[in-house]
Amino acid sequence: MTHGFFPVSYKVCQVLGIQGGFPLEIREIRPGFVAEAVGNNREILAGRDGDVVKKALLSYSVVIMRGMELAPTEQVALTRLLGPPEIVTDMRNHHPESTDILVVRNAGATPVVGNTHWHSDRSFLPEPTRYTVLRADVVPEEGGDTLFADMTAAYRELGDEWRPVIDGAEAVHSYDTVARLRARAHGAPLEQGYARKYPPTVHPLVRAHPESGTPALYLNELCVASLHRPDGKPVTVGVAELHEYATRERFVHRHRWRRGDVVVWDNSRVLHRAGDLPPGLPRVLHRTTTAGAPPYAPAEG
Ligand code: OGA
Ligand code: MN
Repeated sequence: MTHGFFPVSYKVCQVLGIQGGFPLEIREIRPGFVAEAVGNNREILAGRDGDVVKKALLSYSVVIMRGMELAPTEQVALTRLLGPPEIVTDMRNHHPESTDILVVRNAGATPVVGNTHWHSDRSFLPEPTRYTVLRADVVPEEGGDTLFADMTAAYRELGDEWRPVIDGAEAVHSYDTVARLRARAHGAPLEQGYARKYPPTVHPLVRAHPESGTPALYLNELCVASLHRPDGKPVTVGVAELHEYATRERFVHRHRWRRGDVVVWDNSRVLHRAGDLPPGLPRVLHRTTTAGAPPYAPAEG
């Protein structure tokens, strides 16, 4: 049995009480925000340590697994450990072997659009995506990182002048910008009937984490069209101003991809975007997502 270059005898495993190889260890990279699962990653797929990743996602919003080298069916299997996979609705870009996998490509006839803006996946739906699993297939020599912003920390560190305005506020999420960007990038007319398929939907601006109830800002540069308060009081902070604050350097973690990496994140409390990519460099990622429940605001008090 080997662990990296370091051989570990069966006896040592027995003494340590480890069965079936090295267990997965969760190593913190950014406190309460980003962690890396280190160890025999194949154990995740064997199902033994799948729970470790799911549990880690209760304490961390982003979990990185290096050297996974997953086949398409294995990526879907890993996704299933986290929840029911969503079927890709962008039929121009699904993987030839699986409609559960979206091929994220910046080149070609139908490049994926909008991912350079800060967003949370599919927040234009009444039940937005919960977890996203992204696997690097073709990594550019330079650039093309993915950036994550910690919306739990952004909420926690809000100034006292904004908190009373933001607590209890709601945001209208719309598909309009995505539809327009797509039409432009693909040189095609606006998708027929998209406004009926994806009518604007209202989500709380402060979202409770589904398992812990911890509040986080729930934003999206692509989809948040406006802010309002059900009590009729004015929302004296602008959408752009809020995004600028929430994505400041101190809330951001940058992932530099290596081939074989898999990164999982919780869309209920993290924003993400693709970093700059020098023109002409190929970059291909495979994305799977799990279905989520309607977002709700934290209990008062
Ligand atoms: C996505 C996405 C970011 C990236 O696939 O949902 O936003 O770095 N990707 O490509
Ligand atoms: Mn995305």
